[in-house]
This record gives sequence, structure tokens and C-alpha cells, in this order.
Amino acid sequence: MPESTDVETPAAARDDDAAARFAKNLARDAAGLESYGMLYGSSPSMLELYEQIERVASTDATVLVVGESGTGKELVARTIHDRSSRKNSPFVAVNCGAIPDSLIEAELFGHERGSFTGAVQGRAGYFEHANGGTLFLDEVTEMMPVRQVKLLRALETGTFYRVGGTELQRTDVRVIAATNRDPLVAVKENGLREDLMYRLAVFPLRAPPLREREGDRELLAQHFLAELNAQEGTNKAFSKRAKETLRTYSWPGNVRELKNSVYRAFILAEKAVEIEHPRLAARSKKAVTQGDAMSIWVGTPLAEAQRQIILGTLKHCGGDKRRAAKALGVSLKTLYNRLGAYEDEDDGPSSSDT
Ligand SMILES: Nc1ncnc2c1ncn2[C@@H]1O[C@H](COP(=O)(O)OP(=O)(O)OP(=O)(O)O)[C@@H](O)[C@H]1O
Ligand SMILES: [Mg+2]
Repeated sequence: MPESTDVETPAAARDDDAAARFAKNLARDAAGLESYGMLYGSSPSMLELYEQIERVASTDATVLVVGESGTGKELVARTIHDRSSRKNSPFVAVNCGAIPDSLIEAELFGHERGSFTGAVQGRAGYFEHANGGTLFLDEVTEMMPVRQVKLLRALETGTFYRVGGTELQRTDVRVIAATNRDPLVAVKENGLREDLMYRLAVFPLRAPPLREREGDRELLAQHFLAELNAQEGTNKAFSKRAKETLRTYSWPGNVRELKNSVYRAFILAEKAVEIEHPRLAARSKKAVTQGDAMSIWVGTPLAEAQRQIILGTLKHCGGDKRRAAKALGVSLKTLYNRLGAYEDEDDGPSSSDT
């Protein structure tokens, strides 16, 4: 048994089983990419995540999955559900950030007939729908603080009232929440109640961004390409340049961005699949300058828009850096720094980009 401070606790006893189960449930494809449940990835940070999922899946602990957009938080939640004894009961996913504040209470807890205008019939909410299973509360930090109070009570007591109802409802639901904000920052700046944050984060899990997942980018891309080849009966392969881009681009949109890039490139490819460096691709949509005015394309990434404004202003000032800095409202030093950074970037995908 490993030496650790919690060796004596029952949870630690379960942990040993978890480590064995975890190893048994890890799969590996021909290229060496490992997978666990619905998650793919062989990097150390993913293997650690799989092991933590295995440990927590068999419990009823509330889990808070934290990670940038596109890192697979929903897949983490589904994998926990599938690895739990609740796997044959419903998995209900709710995007709290997408439900208007005035409706969220009724959506989560249901409502009774006549409880508000238009409530002609009583209706069960997500908590009741998820009975016996798992309720996934995505973007949980986006709920208004007054709504969070009722959620906290439901989590603590396992009971709640439907909106306008007088009958106490009791459901057996395991809650998994997710956020792409740092929970402590969300408490300080975005109105997440501290008590709710601690209640949700009984077992916090971090879905690592792709840039921290050493070796996963190319393997994942190959995996997505193989899926597409199998679906379409094709035999397309990445070009050498595409492999280089896969490795060197930082993929700020994480697995979602990678997967979509592979899909787009697959559609465009005859045989060799090219992946254009996404930042350079965005750059090819140049700003249009007309006299003193400049138009920037909708959807230009902010950093790229800044670059276009800086370079455009400099050009407009006939290359006079002092005048350009003044026009841009920045110090000459800042302007030099930016220009230096752009030069470095133009030398090719730099290491700061990985
Ligand atoms: N480890 C992974 N293995 C395979 N596919 C993945 C992995 N992580 C993410 N994906 C895929 O990437 C896409 C985004 O995943 P998901 O929706 O779970 O991300 P998310 O973290 O919930 O993002 P958001 O914060 O934007 O909601 C999905 O198509 C998912 O299938
Ligand atoms: Mg999500």
C-alpha cells in the first residue's frame, strides 16, 4: 500500500481497487493513443485525469470539472457517469449559461400548474428527470446568485420544491458541474457563491488544455482522421507540413478546435491532408485601408486585430514610429516591443506558440 496520509481512511482502501480498475479499463489504439471511456489522450496529465475519474466514479461525490473551452469537460462528465453504478440511468446535461435567469429555477426544479403566466400544466425539472442518474450542470458559474441558493439547498438536502409547489420533492441525483472559469476568480468577480463553489468542488477535476498535453496533438489528430477515413471509406493522410503545424500551433480552442480543423482539412483534401496554421490563415484576411480609415474583418482574433491596427497605423505614418506610437496612444517602447514580437512570429511558428 502506498505511503500517504490517508492510508487509514476507507476511501484510500477503495483507491487501490481504483488503480487496478483504471489500468484494466485503459485502451490503446494501433498508433499508441490511449483512451479511457470517451476520452482519448496518452499525455501524463490525461493519464492522471483518468485515474482520478476512476477513483471518483464509484462514489456519489459532487464533482466540479474545471477547464478551458473545448478541453472535454462534458466528455469527462459522461465518462464519470458511464463508469459509475448509475450508468443505466439518465445522464442529463444542462447548460446553465444558456437558460434565461427567469426560467432557470423552473427548468432545474420543475413547476406546478399556474405558478407563473403560461404554466398551464405542471412539469418536472431536470433534477427529477435525472433521478437515479447524473445531472451535469455546465457553465454553473453563470447562474445568478439568488438562483444558486436553491441549488445549494437541493445539493445539501437532496430535496427541493417545484416552483409554486408545496410538496417536498426528493431525488437521488449525482451532480457534476463544469466551468471554464477559475472557480476562485468566479467567486471574487462573477458572483459565484463561495458556499456553492465549495459544495460543488467536493472533488475538483481539471481538464488540461491541449498545449499541456505533450504528444497528444498529433495522436489525437491521427485518431480523428482515422475516424473520418473509416466513415468515408477513404485513405487520406496528413502531409509533413500538417504534422508540423499540429505540433507547433498552440490550439487555444483545444480539442474542439483541433477536431474541427481536421474535419475541415479532410473535406478539402484529395489525398494529402494539409492543416494550415490557423493563426496564419486568419492573417490572410487582411484589413482594408481607405485613406484614414481601416476595416477589419468580423471574427478577426483580437490579437490579430491589434497587429493589423498597429502595422496599418505605422504604414499610415510613413513608417515614423514616434508618430505611430503617439497616434496609437502607447509608448514608443511598447510599439517597439510589439513590432519585435511580430518579427519573431513571422520567422515561423515560435516556441512561445506551443
Ligand atoms: N480527450 C478527448 N478525446 C476525444 N475527444 C475529445 C476529447 N476532449 C474533447 N473532445 C471533443 O472535443 C469537443 C469538445 O468537447 P467538450 O464539449 O466536452 O468540451 P468542453 O470542455 O465541454 O467545452 P466548452 O467549455 O466549450 O463547453 C467534442 O467534440 C469532444 O468530443
Ligand atoms: Mg461543454
